[in-house]
Amino acid sequence: MGPPRKWVITIDGPAGAGKSTVSKLLAQKLGYIYLDTGAMYRAVALLAKNSDHSDPLDEKILEEICLGLDLEFVQKEGILRLLANGRDITKEIRKPEISSLASAVSAKSVVRERLSMIQRSMGKAGGVVLEGRDMGTVVFPDAEVKFYLDARPEVRSKRRFLELEAQGQDTTAEEVHQLMLERDRNDRSRQLAPLKPADDAILVDSSDLQIEGVVQLMLDHIEAMRKGHR
Ligand code: DC
Repeated sequence: MGPPRKWVITIDGPAGAGKSTVSKLLAQKLGYIYLDTGAMYRAVALLAKNSDHSDPLDEKILEEICLGLDLEFVQKEGILRLLANGRDITKEIRKPEISSLASAVSAKSVVRERLSMIQRSMGKAGGVVLEGRDMGTVVFPDAEVKFYLDARPEVRSKRRFLELEAQGQDTTAEEVHQLMLERDRNDRSRQLAPLKPADDAILVDSSDLQIEGVVQLMLDHIEAMRKGHR
C-alpha cells in the first residue's frame, strides 16, 4: 500500500547528501513525479553566464532571464533532461562553475520569487517528490511528508568528486571539497530561504547507508504516516 496519489513529499538537504538519486528512486517506487529544483537554479545561472552582460549577478539581467524563462523537464531514452527555452542544458548545468554560480544566483530575491512560483505550480496537484533546499520550509510548508537528508561533509564531497570524475570533469578531490563547503556556507547563511530542516522534517543521515537503505527508510516513514492519516 502506497501513500495517497496526491501527497507532496519534500527532500531538502546540502549538496552530496544523495538527494537526487534518492528522490528519483522514491518517486519511481511511489509512481510520483520527480522535480529537481536545484536544476532550475542551475539553469538561471547558466543563462546568466551565457548572457552578454559582464556581471552574471546583475539584478536586471536576472530579472529579464527569469521573466522569459521557459523550463521543461522531459524524459528522453530513460534520462530526465532539462530544456531551457527549448535548448537541452542537462549536461552544461552540472559543471562545477555553474554549481557555485547557482548558489550565488539563488540568494537573489527576483530569482527565488520566480522559481518558487514555478515550483508551486508544478507541484500543487500533488503526487510529487520535490528535492531542493527550501521545499519543506518555504515552497511547500504544508507538504504531507518532509525529509531532510544529510551526511558528513567528507562523505558528501567524496561522493560528489566520484560523480564528477565519472562525468570526465577535470577537477581534484580537494577542490570539490572546498567548493562544496563554500556552497553549503552560502546556502545556509543567505537571508532568503536558507538551507535548514523544517521544524516538522524527518532527519535522515545517509553517511553510512546505501541508497536502497535510505529509500526503504523513507518508504517506512511514509507508510507509517499514511496509517496515521486514515
Ligand atoms: O541541488 P543543487 O546542488 O543542484 O542546487 C544548486 C544550487 O541551487 C544550490 O547551491 C542552492 C540552490 N538551490 C536553492 O537555493 N533552492 C533550491 N530549492 C534548490 C537549489
